[in-house]
Amino acid sequence: MTHSIKFWAVVPAAGVGKRMNADRPKQYLELAGKTVIEHTLLRLLSAEVFAAIAVAISGEDPYWPELEVSVHEKIITAAGGKERADSVLSALKSIRALASDNDWVLVHDAARPCITATDIHHLIDSLVSDEVGGILALSSHDTLKNVQGNGIVGTLDRSHIWRALTPQMFRYGLLKTSLEAAEGNPAITDEASALELQGLQPKIVEGRPDNIKITRPEDLALAQFYMEHQND
Ligand code: CTP
Ligand code: MG
Repeated sequence: MTHSIKFWAVVPAAGVGKRMNADRPKQYLELAGKTVIEHTLLRLLSAEVFAAIAVAISGEDPYWPELEVSVHEKIITAAGGKERADSVLSALKSIRALASDNDWVLVHDAARPCITATDIHHLIDSLVSDEVGGILALSSHDTLKNVQGNGIVGTLDRSHIWRALTPQMFRYGLLKTSLEAAEGNPAITDEASALELQGLQPKIVEGRPDNIKITRPEDLALAQFYMEHQND
């Protein structure tokens, strides 16, 4: 019997949001009438492509069970880990019995609530026939400097530099084995870097600049601005 390829989403949401400096993890701060993570998950659900969404949540998180979306039929709760990569691996393991190695997984930060269905479908359409997979990314508008101490020692060739966003889309089996091979390596700050360590070259797909990550306090107002002006 042939298995038709499915799409799964994995959402790491077990961080503490240190740089946000708030009274709770940033994914539970309010933005336009909902928490950040509710926006993120409702937008992933509304793309209508995922068989399920595995969300990695910290063991000491009192906020998650309070949200209606936590018991949505397409949401699976997994245990978070020490680093983001550990949380992603844990979420992948939580769907091991459901997913096939060839299925696609889109990993998306809980802290990126402005993700649009347009970007999700653009990523999928661009990579669905690809061998390895890839990520949404943005080119840099600013001139980039190589600095030592506080002195500039060079200017980087901007045409080779991209900023990695999420979702990042890879095959279930390859992503899981690449993350397992890289376990404990602090250089693994996104999924693509785990595949790069395997000698693979994930593709980049140009994303939208409104897909920001909430990192610092001023990002909440910016996210609200984008949400008010998005109509797709
Ligand atoms: N994340 C996770 N598990 C961790 C660390 C981070 O699931 N051990 C998640 C975060 O919840 C977030 C995403 O990974 O949705 C991106 O990480 P980041 O923006 O760095 O969030 P935090 O680690 O929470 O923030 P900070 O680095 O400022 O503490
Ligand atoms: Mg972090």
